[in-house]
Amino acid sequence: MAQIGKDIDLAKSFLEQGQLVGIPTETVYGLAGNALNPESVALIFETKNRPAFDPLILHTSSMDRVSDFVTEFPEKLLTLAEYVWPGPLTLLLPRKSIVPDLVTSGLERVAVRVPKHPLTLALLETLDFPLAAPSANPFGYISPTSPAHVNAQLGEKIPYILDGGPCEVGLESTIVGMEGAEIVIYRLGGLEIAEIEKLIGPVKIKDHSSSNPQAPGLLESHYSPRKPFILGNLKDLIGEHLEKKTDFAVLSFSDYYAEVSAGNQIALSPNKNLHEAAKNLFSAMRKLDEGKSDLILAELMPEEGLGRAINDRLKRAGAK
Ligand code: TXA
Ligand code: MG
Repeated sequence: MAQIGKDIDLAKSFLEQGQLVGIPTETVYGLAGNALNPESVALIFETKNRPAFDPLILHTSSMDRVSDFVTEFPEKLLTLAEYVWPGPLTLLLPRKSIVPDLVTSGLERVAVRVPKHPLTLALLETLDFPLAAPSANPFGYISPTSPAHVNAQLGEKIPYILDGGPCEVGLESTIVGMEGAEIVIYRLGGLEIAEIEKLIGPVKIKDHSSSNPQAPGLLESHYSPRKPFILGNLKDLIGEHLEKKTDFAVLSFSDYYAEVSAGNQIALSPNKNLHEAAKNLFSAMRKLDEGKSDLILAELMPEEGLGRAINDRLKRAGAK
């Protein structure tokens, strides 16, 4: 298993040797390597079992450093970045040639972000290269929101996980770019659409069900538990499955069900708080996936604020 600790110098030395380290961010844990070293980047794809057509996000410690990697920074996106970074926002910007092809899967734009976590920001400050970091899960599985999640799945393959505790936001960053004068959202995430629109005006949300997704994190089946994951009206689903005598678990927004044993159900936020629900989502999905039941019954959240991004993940978990 990987060593888990708060030693920034140790993390730095592994990264300088070309190895990979689990890093905390406010959204989810990342599997980080030197973004300017193609061998480290290749190791990320191999370790995650990720197809090479799915590009990586470049993480850096400040807005100033972003200009080392991009040729242009449109004004609206600059305004957004100035307000949100460090925070759960990834921007797609035209890349400089210093960024290896492997990072962008050959695309013209590179995804960049300044994450908000004191340990990771301190690490990025002391490194003289940016970090490429996808979520630290095997391709297609649920993203990790704690060091233990990372260790459980990738611990055999990496030497070190920087321990930043549980992730504050719990959903991946919102991915934003421009197409002509239009602001486009490529992935719903931890930064709410309303917040973006308040800062820079109306946006277009890309239809991700297209056969040629710009961001394969939006591939239909993704964030998937191993067990069947069934979305619908929980009262009805529970009634139906009690009758069939299936061994099921329940993932709800706020309610508990008397007819289901306590150990077989998780309410994401008994007080109906969508931030709390987002923070608990992935660990709850993992817990139920690791439990003894044969399948998971779940419901959508209200389609507002972070509920939209949570519902996006729930639908993908349910898609097979
Ligand atoms: O919150 C996050 O963004 C986390 C933390 C670790 O920073 N990272 C993360 O990375 O979610 P990953 O690799 O799991 O998801 C990144 C998504 C993928 O769907 C990828 O296709 C898309 O970003 N992406 C990356 N570079 C892109 C590019 N140049 N053009 C279009 N999409 C891109
Ligand atoms: Mg991911």
